[in-house]
Amino acid sequence: MSGLALAALEGVYKNYAMGDAEVRALDGVSFAIGAGEFVSIMGPSGSGKSTCMNLIGCLDRPSSGAVFINGTDTSRMGAGELARLRNRTVGFVFQQYHLIASMTVLENVMLPLRYRGLPPRRRRELAAAVLDRVGLSDRLKHRPRELSGGQKQRTAIARALVASPALILADEPTGALDSETGKSVIDLFEEINSRGTAVIIVTHDPGIGERARRQIKLRDGKITADTAEAGTAAGAEGERVSRFVFGGESFA
Ligand SMILES: Nc1ncnc2c1ncn2[C@@H]1O[C@H](COP(=O)(O)OP(=O)(O)OP(=O)(O)O)[C@@H](O)[C@H]1O
Ligand SMILES: [Mg+2]
Repeated sequence: MSGLALAALEGVYKNYAMGDAEVRALDGVSFAIGAGEFVSIMGPSGSGKSTCMNLIGCLDRPSSGAVFINGTDTSRMGAGELARLRNRTVGFVFQQYHLIASMTVLENVMLPLRYRGLPPRRRRELAAAVLDRVGLSDRLKHRPRELSGGQKQRTAIARALVASPALILADEPTGALDSETGKSVIDLFEEINSRGTAVIIVTHDPGIGERARRQIKLRDGKITADTAEAGTAAGAEGERVSRFVFGGESFA
């Protein structure tokens, strides 16, 4: 499965040392995300959602278990190689935007292209095009403090998109926005996903979670529900029926 998946966690545990004690943030988590999927991750505070996202995005490493990106086991990769893989494959969006205050909107969005060896003019063109796509072409020279919350998040989404990643990881992207602005940000993720980019959104808002085609629920570091597994079971049953009806097999 991991050979075909865009990203996969297999039997992942993540422990954090807290003085003498240990916190188990993830307790044996396995799932795979395919190209073009739209997934929400929900669960109570402290259930391990952000830990999961940081592992999928290779910002952190598991205590045990494996993280696969494009079928490659990332545990064997060095830090530099991992950073290059991340830069090519994943775009991140955070609740608090994490924009660089001293840079303009355009410069913030150009940043991920810095490591691509593209000439500055080309970087500028690509960044301006993606800012146009998120509706910010009239804000290119603004600094983050001169933007509304929704505009800041659109800038962060443009920055996540500019290098054409196969996967966008958004950790509570609407957490700091009013519900109307949040809805327009989710509309934007839906539009991005409809063009083939896989999107994983962590959210506390059930209305947002239900808009994703697949929902994963976490509790105490474990997956308690994953609608993809229900889909797989239905698929297996459908296949069994097909073999019986169309293939002339006897029903075992
Ligand atoms: N760097 C860290 N050091 C120690 N413990 C940590 C660290 N990061 C997370 N934890 C612990 O791991 C558990 C899972 O944290 P995580 O941030 O993944 O939760 P979450 O589901 O994203 O919660 P929230 O909804 O509040 O963002 C929590 O108990 C948390 O206290
Ligand atoms: Mg979190």
